[in-house]
Amino acid sequence: MALDIVNLLADRAEENVVLHERHVNPQFAKVLRTIGFDQSWVRGQGPYLYDSKGRQYLDMLAGYGVYNVGRNHPVLRKVLTDFLGTDHPSLIQMEAPLTSGILAEELKRRVPSSLDTVYFTSSGTEGIETAIKLARCATGRPRMIHCHHAFHGLTNGSLSLNGEASFREGFAPFLPGAVPIALNDLDALRAELDLGDVAGFVVEPIQGKGVFVATDEFLLGAAQLCRQHGALLVLDEVQTGLGRTGKLFAREHSGVVPDILVMSKALSGGHVPVGAVMTRRDVFLKVFSSMERCVVHSSTFGQGALAMVAGLATLDVLDEERLVERSARMGDLLVKGLLELKARFELVRDVRGRGLMIGIEFGRPASLALRMGWDLAHKMSRDLFAQAIVMPLMADHAILTQVSGHGTDVVKLIPPLVIGEADVARFLEAFEAVLERAHHFPGPIWEVTTRLAKHAMKR
Ligand SMILES: Cc1ncc(COP(=O)(O)O)c(C=O)c1O
Repeated sequence: MALDIVNLLADRAEENVVLHERHVNPQFAKVLRTIGFDQSWVRGQGPYLYDSKGRQYLDMLAGYGVYNVGRNHPVLRKVLTDFLGTDHPSLIQMEAPLTSGILAEELKRRVPSSLDTVYFTSSGTEGIETAIKLARCATGRPRMIHCHHAFHGLTNGSLSLNGEASFREGFAPFLPGAVPIALNDLDALRAELDLGDVAGFVVEPIQGKGVFVATDEFLLGAAQLCRQHGALLVLDEVQTGLGRTGKLFAREHSGVVPDILVMSKALSGGHVPVGAVMTRRDVFLKVFSSMERCVVHSSTFGQGALAMVAGLATLDVLDEERLVERSARMGDLLVKGLLELKARFELVRDVRGRGLMIGIEFGRPASLALRMGWDLAHKMSRDLFAQAIVMPLMADHAILTQVSGHGTDVVKLIPPLVIGEADVARFLEAFEAVLERAHHFPGPIWEVTTRLAKHAMKR
């Protein structure tokens, strides 16, 4: 008898965390239990998740920015099942697949005309590895420059360009000469480029860790400096791409035109891993420089038909439902509400971002009692306070958010772009309630920090 997947999942719905403790990642399972994120998820629809007890959650994390079109979008499902019904052959390998040709055509309609050649990947980090190889091979130079706090993925090349020590610990040595500079510091970039050995500069238009925004002047200046020094500008739009920041690509805010543009995450529609690296034909041909080198960089699943079709369906939904405009509108609404809360609550230091990529940074309060709580929590660990905000949002208000990066006081919001005004209101109301409680020391929010610190010590 064929596998009865529906009943299998229903029968074993509550076993998920135990299975992970036994077979997958016991440390992550422990973290999930500690912070109360150990639900058994059974359904996802648009911006909502449902656990096995039938509770509905508002998803402000969107699978780390994968679900821009929302979960289980009916158009995605229809297109993918229609396609599976055609018996279309995929991965013949010695072929030129129609599906990747059409997706490349569609992507090119949406970016500056200089980015006229597309390389497909199965993940974001593979896109960055591709960009590193393209830049080094095309320029004949060794070094890549990145930014403090940068996150470009966790394979070896991408990790060499990671701006956080916590991710790098234990994995040295890295790519030689990969040097970080401060975001928005053109002088620092110029100093590195002046050395004459830089192949490329990789930068996120808005950094995923901490939600630090690259200024328009910096991005435009970086493009000019790279051009003057014969280096390539690589824009990592793995997270900011496809509507997240209120433009289809975040590059549109400044008008900067990179030499290499990397995207992934949301292009998948949340169904099939996919990514794309777009570059100029002259850069591409310096690498794929002869018939012998026609597959000098490639991977087996790179142009899988189901992934290409997921990409096509996702672009279609983004257009049809005008989700990019919606991202800008809902983002404005969220930021407006958050700024009102910032004016009332001293723990909120900054609200930043673009579209539906928003960071809320907390800061040391002025009033004495709160400052005591803040200092105590931060003495125990730099990671605790934001986590103590994320936890009650989940437990008491059924809202899924995340702490943005290690050792930061930033809570990040990257909901599906399909959220509506009622969802924004639901978040703001819940956040206000959590802030009210956080502004009483001692109180339950601060007790959470102590509890977390004890758990961390036990570990
Ligand atoms: C900006 C950025 N680049 C690259 C990556 C790596 O993507 P992946 O996890 O698909 O390898 C991520 C993932 O979070 C990202 O946010």
